[in-house]
Amino acid sequence: MADEPEALRDAAQRGDARLDDLRAAARTCTACDLYRNATQTVFGAGGEGAELMVIGEQPGDREDLAGEPFVGPAGRLLDEALDAAGIDRRLVYVTNVVKHFKWRRAPSGKRRIHQKPDRAEVQACRPWLEGEMARVQPRLVVCLGATAAQALIGPAFRVTREHGHVRPSVLGTPAIGTIHPSAVLRARTGQERQAMFDGLVADLRTARAQLRGARGKKCGTRDAKEPA
Ligand code: URA
Repeated sequence: MADEPEALRDAAQRGDARLDDLRAAARTCTACDLYRNATQTVFGAGGEGAELMVIGEQPGDREDLAGEPFVGPAGRLLDEALDAAGIDRRLVYVTNVVKHFKWRRAPSGKRRIHQKPDRAEVQACRPWLEGEMARVQPRLVVCLGATAAQALIGPAFRVTREHGHVRPSVLGTPAIGTIHPSAVLRARTGQERQAMFDGLVADLRTARAQLRGARGKKCGTRDAKEPA
């Protein structure tokens, strides 16, 4: 954590801590053990004032190495889905509920296999997310997958049943839970993959409509005929 974790936590919650300061402080976070195996902290990316915040679970292998969220295969799929939904990723703040990669070594010894973060790890990382939320003040949050949706909307949230509906979130901003892009990548057949991708895009379109309804057209979204 930072030198003065309590002071930082309070400042983060009030929205007083600038994103760059939070990012710098998060680099030395030891609030849970995940920092021990991770290459680096992967903080959120995007501008303060973004109207849409997209929140995933935790950085993957590529993100851990690059230090940026959603830059690997799941990130490419997310880009495609945002594009198909008419949302410009450059105008979205993208982050994760957990900011270190949790993994175990594959039996072959080569690959690093993703492991789901537990509740204590999600909780330990929460001040960073609160700081991001307080500073960016998005009008809407999209939670990718169960870990993010349960952290933001509530532990009973089930993506299969409740995806695509606008719900109150525990941090005050309305949120929509949807499928994680990694789940789309894991689909067993092309048909299943297409159906899951279409579902993700449909939920992102709901997010876009929600933003446009709340504040006309100026919301980090674009019309199909506008340049990407
Ligand atoms: N999956 C996530 O949830 N977040 C990332 O940043 C990358 C993959």
